[in-house]
Amino acid sequence: MGKRVLAMKSVICVDVVPQSYDIAIAPGGLDDLGVWMSRLKLGKKVLVVSNPAIFRRYGESAIAGLKLVGYDVSSCTLPPGERYKTLNSLQKIYDAALKHPLERSSTMVALGGGVIGDMTGFAAATWLRGINVVQVPTSLLAMVDASIGGKTGVNHPQGKNLIGAFHQPRFVLIDPQVLKTLPPREFRAGMAEVIKYGIIWDAELFAKLEEAKRLDQMRYVNEELLSLILSCSCQAKADVVSQDEKEAGLRAILNYGHTIGHAVESLTGYKVFNHGEAVAIGMVAAGEIAVKLQMWQSDEAKRQNALIEKTGLPTKLPGGLDIDAILDTLQTDKKVKEGKVRFVLPTKIGVVTITDQVPSDVIRHVLQQMQP
Ligand code: GLY
Repeated sequence: MGKRVLAMKSVICVDVVPQSYDIAIAPGGLDDLGVWMSRLKLGKKVLVVSNPAIFRRYGESAIAGLKLVGYDVSSCTLPPGERYKTLNSLQKIYDAALKHPLERSSTMVALGGGVIGDMTGFAAATWLRGINVVQVPTSLLAMVDASIGGKTGVNHPQGKNLIGAFHQPRFVLIDPQVLKTLPPREFRAGMAEVIKYGIIWDAELFAKLEEAKRLDQMRYVNEELLSLILSCSCQAKADVVSQDEKEAGLRAILNYGHTIGHAVESLTGYKVFNHGEAVAIGMVAAGEIAVKLQMWQSDEAKRQNALIEKTGLPTKLPGGLDIDAILDTLQTDKKVKEGKVRFVLPTKIGVVTITDQVPSDVIRHVLQQMQP
């Protein structure tokens, strides 16, 4: 574990067994993808997986860089969006792997957001019983969360990420310059996870975010703050994953805001809110629950909610959402253990605890207060 800052670049190590790996945060680094990867001594064959829009923008330079250092590269693109995160899309990656053909020493490169990262990771986990994957995230959400930690998978019609595997990448390359083309709403979605790290792990990051005048669009975030956002968030995720790779305990704190968030996301058919927006609502709810249980000071909860609002993320439930339906949906969450809903609750900014002792009347009361 630990962070080495190299001029403009920062390299963070994720310390997992049997093979630790680096996350490099390198402005303009996408052009040097081949150079970064050549340090890993991987086989010569590489399959770049992307979606058509991302591939049009960045595919050519990534592939040119890979070829320059001698890789034999092919590519495949998949339709964009969560609804294509299916076994069907996976087949396209396997077909491309067969055509190239990829060998045990070969590498899949995921060039895209969380959907591409999760699918490529899962394809790599299962192709020839496991080959290398390198994550090159292009959305803020994927940079600070999905690309790190080895959770991979696809959706089943009955639920998100029900089919999956842990498969750690060999390397993660984050080029902040690609964020310049990220739509503002997606930037805010990533910021929800960044705020999460401030609450669960890094009070200094939280304070820096509070100091910023505006956070609702990337163009108001200066280079220094963006670099801090990326390095602190990746460090937080790396620290947690290094201590608990398979979510035996600590890693569950990364689910802060996700309990109610997932219920809201699924009850609104994944159409009203994106993942970050739902997590923002979930963080407000979890914070208010912690206050109600006298675990967290209300002025700190107000600071959290003010930061979420400043980022342009929602803090209220959408109109017409039935509270009983939310309570029912909580029971089907992946985080339910022996019938009890587990919540990650803050005790102070930077520190959280996990509990399954939240009375349902407390959840109901908080949700009622959050109605528009
Ligand atoms: N996104 C939650 C985790 O990686 O554990």
